Amino acid sequence: MRLLISLLLSLLTLPLLDAQELKVIKLEAPDKAGGAPLMKVFNNRKSDREFSTAKLRPQDLSTLLWAANGINRPDGKRTAPSAVNAQDVDVYVLFQEGAYLYDAKAHALTPVAAGDYRGDVAGRQESVKAAPVILVLVSDLERLSKTPDEGTQRTAAVDVGIVSQNINLVCAGLGLATVPRGSMDQDALRKALKLKPTQLLLINNPVGYPKQ
Ligand SMILES: Cc1cc2nc3c(=O)[nH]c(=O)nc-3n(C[C@H](O)[C@H](O)[C@H](O)COP(=O)(O)O)c2cc1C
Repeated sequence: MRLLISLLLSLLTLPLLDAQELKVIKLEAPDKAGGAPLMKVFNNRKSDREFSTAKLRPQDLSTLLWAANGINRPDGKRTAPSAVNAQDVDVYVLFQEGAYLYDAKAHALTPVAAGDYRGDVAGRQESVKAAPVILVLVSDLERLSKTPDEGTQRTAAVDVGIVSQNINLVCAGLGLATVPRGSMDQDALRKALKLKPTQLLLINNPVGYPKQ
């Protein structure tokens, strides 16, 4: 009986322990001098929906996130512009082992939830499940307005679109595959990422090396 109770208790606490097991990932310095020249980047930019399952090299992951919405000036402003410098866009990073939030100030990944949520983004688009990283872009409307309305949502969509385009372009520059995607399981992801009602889940970019 005692064995049964302790077994049940360990099963109940398993997901909790899993979440605690994820650690902050300190990213290495981004490569701000590499990649293809800008005009070549525009020429190469395209949606690619076929991914190698190989994990991203730490340097590529770091450069990807910094280019997406990292800090590029001493005053804390970002690689992506945002309305009234609200910096309302958060980049969630989904790996096989768990979901993280990109902390631009620390250039690090903060654990959000253990587990693989990439399937909730991919849905029926099977090829997307192979991507080793999926970036999920969320705008916090509260940072744009104290009383968010439809206009605030339009502004949020623009801000998120710019971050997505940064991702599209840095991927083209680094030889990575990506596609901006509006489709994803909103309910499942809102729950997994523990989003507040004012956080709008707008677009995702799976990222990986191109499938050979
Ligand atoms: C707002 C937005 C939402 C999109 N949603 C999806 C999507 O859910 N699934 C998908 O496979 N592609 C999606 N795309 C990618 C488009 O299909 C793609 O950009 C378009 O076909 C043009 O191809 P290109 O990006 O290679 O130029 C989306 C693009 C944008 C801008």
